[in-house]
Amino acid sequence: MQTHNLIDLGDISKADLDEIIRLAAMIKANPSIFTDACHGKIMATLFYEPSTRTQMSFQTAMLRLGGQIIGFDNPSNASVAKGESLKDTIRVVSGYADVIVMRNPVEGSALAASMYSEVPLINAGDGGHLHPTQTLTDLVTLSAEKGSLENMTIGLCGDMKNGRTVHSLIKTLSKYKGNKFILISTPELQLPPYMLDVLRESGCPYSFSDSLEKSIAELDVLYMTRIQQERFRTAEEYEAQKGIYVLDKAKMALAKPDLIVLHPLPRVDEITVEVDDDPRAKYFAQAEYGMYARMALIITMLTGKADQDVPNGKVLDGRCCQNPRCVTRSEGYVPHLFYEKGGRSVCSFCDSLLEE
Ligand code: NCD
Repeated sequence: MQTHNLIDLGDISKADLDEIIRLAAMIKANPSIFTDACHGKIMATLFYEPSTRTQMSFQTAMLRLGGQIIGFDNPSNASVAKGESLKDTIRVVSGYADVIVMRNPVEGSALAASMYSEVPLINAGDGGHLHPTQTLTDLVTLSAEKGSLENMTIGLCGDMKNGRTVHSLIKTLSKYKGNKFILISTPELQLPPYMLDVLRESGCPYSFSDSLEKSIAELDVLYMTRIQQERFRTAEEYEAQKGIYVLDKAKMALAKPDLIVLHPLPRVDEITVEVDDDPRAKYFAQAEYGMYARMALIITMLTGKADQDVPNGKVLDGRCCQNPRCVTRSEGYVPHLFYEKGGRSVCSFCDSLLEE
């Protein structure tokens, strides 16, 4: 693989991605062949934010490959609670482990951390920004359940604004031919501008919808998401958005017989439990595919020989990213780098547009 780290799935070539998806399917079919694939290797999981599936599936993945794990899932028990910078934590841990998996609420933190790591670093979610290993999970699920990653009408429903899984998924699936997107949400929770740029540039057709009921019959894939309560500024703003889109038996009755329903989980109230018994509901299978996806990723990262990645971008005299949730705002030593896109400057860490 060309890249040393996994920050954004876009860093991986399509050929490498196909290779990882194939490897995941092979592991699922023949797990016993891989029981020693990472013997003697250590993975550190640094979780600064709550997680069940992502953390446990990474840990199980490494254990099933014969490797070992260290790490924390409660930053209040780690040195960050004493004021340690991300850079220092990463420097220290990269001396202990062979691969680091990090989830952090700060946008762009994974890219920043990778600059100070001696070992491959995997982004397990950086705030509302990206979540590439969930997308890898989604791709492994789609290839197994649909047999292809092309020519699908994909409905994404719920929190398009704050849902990092949706951002990573659209970025990747828009590179496969023939895909069409229907973005189902309230106007307040629609995709952020940089994601709309991604869609525009990809040339994939996309449309907006405010009704799951009206759109469901068209879909080959329905990707439901949770309203991301923790990313709202006030309880009132969250209350105004929650419970608007609920997938239930009546809506499933309007859908194609070969629709598949995915959800990164955890579910709150956006899919009623009765839908779980519908054979088109694949979200629990998806969680299991995630373990195989991560096994394939760990093997690939630990056997890759690529050089350290360098963030793309340059310093602009005196300019700082304006996104208050960007890592350049909280970790003062991280350089303020920007890349050019359509004549505009964009933060290399969180992808926010720099306002003039
Ligand atoms: C997602 C996440 O953490 O972004 N969950 C996951 O990784 N399985 C989705 C969510 O929290 O809603």
